[in-house]
Amino acid sequence: MSFPILTPEEAASHIKHGDTVGLSGFTAPGVPKDTFDAVAAHAVSEHEAGRPYKISLFTGASTNRHVDGALSNANAVERRAPYQNTPDMRTRINAHDTHYFDQHLSEMAQKLRYGFLGDIDVAVIEAADVQPDGRLVLGTGAGIVTAVAKMAKKIIIEHNSAINPKIEGLHDLYMPADPPYRREIPIYSPKDRIGSPYLYVDPSKVVGVVNTHQTDGVKPFTALDDTTKKIGHNVCEFLIGELRAGRLPKEFLPIQSGVGNVANAVLYGLADATEIPPFAMYTEVVQDAVLDLMERDRCIFASTCSLTMSDETQARFFAHDAEFCRRVVIRPSELSNNPEVIRRLGVIAMNTALEADIFGAINSTHVLGTKMMNGIGGSGDFTRNGYLSIFSCPSVSKGGAISNIVPMVAHADHSEHSVDVLVTDQGVADLRGKDPVQRAELIISNCAHPDYRPLLREYLRLGRGGQTPHVLEKSFAFHVAFNETGDMRNARL
Ligand code: COA
Repeated sequence: MSFPILTPEEAASHIKHGDTVGLSGFTAPGVPKDTFDAVAAHAVSEHEAGRPYKISLFTGASTNRHVDGALSNANAVERRAPYQNTPDMRTRINAHDTHYFDQHLSEMAQKLRYGFLGDIDVAVIEAADVQPDGRLVLGTGAGIVTAVAKMAKKIIIEHNSAINPKIEGLHDLYMPADPPYRREIPIYSPKDRIGSPYLYVDPSKVVGVVNTHQTDGVKPFTALDDTTKKIGHNVCEFLIGELRAGRLPKEFLPIQSGVGNVANAVLYGLADATEIPPFAMYTEVVQDAVLDLMERDRCIFASTCSLTMSDETQARFFAHDAEFCRRVVIRPSELSNNPEVIRRLGVIAMNTALEADIFGAINSTHVLGTKMMNGIGGSGDFTRNGYLSIFSCPSVSKGGAISNIVPMVAHADHSEHSVDVLVTDQGVADLRGKDPVQRAELIISNCAHPDYRPLLREYLRLGRGGQTPHVLEKSFAFHVAFNETGDMRNARL
């Protein structure tokens, strides 16, 4: 049986107002493309005709300009989870045009299977190869594809001829049984493969195939600057100290690295920190820096959920021979981010904060406590379960008008219980085994920008006792000062 070939518009006609749609992919890689340009155009014409058109959209993580970009421009998304990172989607979310619920990425697939989020009407899956029996070679990201393929009533496949055929064999697709039947996930080293390189979909559910030729379109990172270089250097110095002290095994442990410019800079720091032996990664995204690390044999293997590389870097990755490409395995997010596996492997978790407070709590998601930036992503999956959990951020943002070290975070994503080490361009605060006041003293002295240290010390001095001596009426003085004057240095304590 071969599947009908559909135009993007024909495919879009299968996605109705009110439908819940599940997608393959994780960040831009592996996410369908042309179908959603057509869905967005259909939404615009429905709105112009005075008819409602909105869908619920569930994915592995963020998507691309065709999905979150085009659909949010068209105001066509009713519900969205678990992560996004496009300016237009952010605007819709913060205006409540789109109801966004921010989720730990490892939990998205199982929450769908448990029925917490309703049915999946349509799954749209990107594939590098499609066989008539429903066997697919997926694209460069997996995400929640196994769960949505199983649950969906209808499946649309986007066959993307721009995906390098060397992708075949990189995936390891496995879906854990649901409780009470779940067994241990038998990954004992980042390299272990436990599933199939292919996704098998039920051919009777496939309504058709859209042919496309589009790259993932991931943009290269901002060049490293002095601040991000210092953060990378400080993280590496800390890890070297841990190795020397014997608190990390001499073979080292698998690394997870978060998303964004700061995470990318930390990875570049590892290239030159040769006292750290060549290492493996157990992570959710392989960003541009990882290819450099692999080419220099610093990173020997990477388990990931997607190849989140810029188009140029992805082309460079596939230009290597097939054996080199086999140094990567692409798994669904419920495996790449699985707490059981992260805890077992002893992953060193390295994530980025928007702001941290002097007691060690972290805000990864809400700008000034109210506006959603991206989402928690996998940071909670790794932070809570890592062997060692490190957060880093620049000490200040917006030219110094914002201190990223504040008296109390204006939104809490990670409590102080989950944070072992905080790193900024100023230095390192090792919070392990310290009480809240000891943590505050370390964070102020080692991580806060000098401009803000006197204010933060004053806040700590004003505390009237208690284990964690917050001064509740002053806790958000920094944020209030920024909102009122545009500069946290004007905080009144
Ligand atoms: N208050 C207000 N704005 C802030 C801020 C703060 N405390 N800290 C940073 N910003 C702004 C920066 O000024 C910058 O804005 P600009 O683009 O207008 O210049 C923007 O936020 C990004 O800052 P940057 O320092 O470049 O951070 P990044 O690219 O390294 O991303 C996060 C940082 C926190 C947004 C990103 O890591 C993230 O989304 N994390 C959550 C998900 C996650 O950790 N996933 C990883 C799991 S594997």
